[in-house]
Amino acid sequence: MKTVLITGAGKRLGRQLAEYWLAQGWRVVAHYNSVNELAPQPGLITLQADLSELNDVRRLCDELASYGPYDGVIHNASCFVADAQAQQQGVSLARQAEQHFAVHVYAPMMITEALTGLWCEQAWMTVITDIYSDLPNERFAVYCASKAALQNWALSMAQRLSPQVRTNVVQPGPIQFLPEHSQAYREMVLSQSLIKQELGYQAITEACAYLAGSQSVCGSVLRVDGGRLVANRYDQTFSD
Ligand SMILES: NC(=O)c1ccc[n+]([C@@H]2O[C@H](COP(=O)([O-])OP(=O)(O)OC[C@H]3O[C@@H](n4cnc5c(N)ncnc54)[C@H](OP(=O)(O)O)[C@@H]3O)[C@@H](O)[C@H]2O)c1
Repeated sequence: MKTVLITGAGKRLGRQLAEYWLAQGWRVVAHYNSVNELAPQPGLITLQADLSELNDVRRLCDELASYGPYDGVIHNASCFVADAQAQQQGVSLARQAEQHFAVHVYAPMMITEALTGLWCEQAWMTVITDIYSDLPNERFAVYCASKAALQNWALSMAQRLSPQVRTNVVQPGPIQFLPEHSQAYREMVLSQSLIKQELGYQAITEACAYLAGSQSVCGSVLRVDGGRLVANRYDQTFSD
């Protein structure tokens, strides 16, 4: 049975990814933090760890050794806090940066290091970043910087781990609106997209499945954003 490790698999996109690979008949090692919505089932192993805590990451790394070898890994876990929001909550910039870089950079680094010698032949690793890795957003400067670091590290891993492990990046745009998002916000976001519709988790799952199965794709950054990054954000209605 093939095995995939997915981080942040307890809910939302990570949960959908776990359910997709379970449905393909794979064994899924699903990491989660505070919430695990995955139904217990054959082939599913769940491991809890707070990836912002170094000791938890070390413990998780030790536990992962029991479930290898690995055919695939998806680094999906993520925290997303606006700079002003952290400040309002009394979280210092240093602590906010520490948390984001711990979850997005240190944890994937340490987990990947721990998998040395535990990869199958023709394995793959997919790293979920964000279009913000290439498109700065001053409201989320810490998040953007840490996702950019994650993406750069992923491409170094494409060099280091190939040819045994093909590493690629998926850059989602806004995936799915949350119940608290207002109609005005939804319309504003969709107006900045070329396809004018929500992506949904399925779009990112399809991209991950494509990368997992594409033996000739390595070191690629696959943008799945409905055209939001290239949508023209400037007023083109003027004439001279
Ligand atoms: N949603 C979007 O529109 C969007 C847009 C661009 C990129 N992305 C990227 O796509 C991926 C999936 O998006 P999503 O919205 O499903 O992500 P999400 O729910 O915000 O986060 C993914 C998972 O990371 C876990 N996580 C957060 N802090 C953690 C910590 N300290 N230790 C361990 N796990 C932690 C969360 O679990 P807990 O809540 O239990 O901590 C959650 O299950 C992420 O990498 C995200 O950055 C998403």
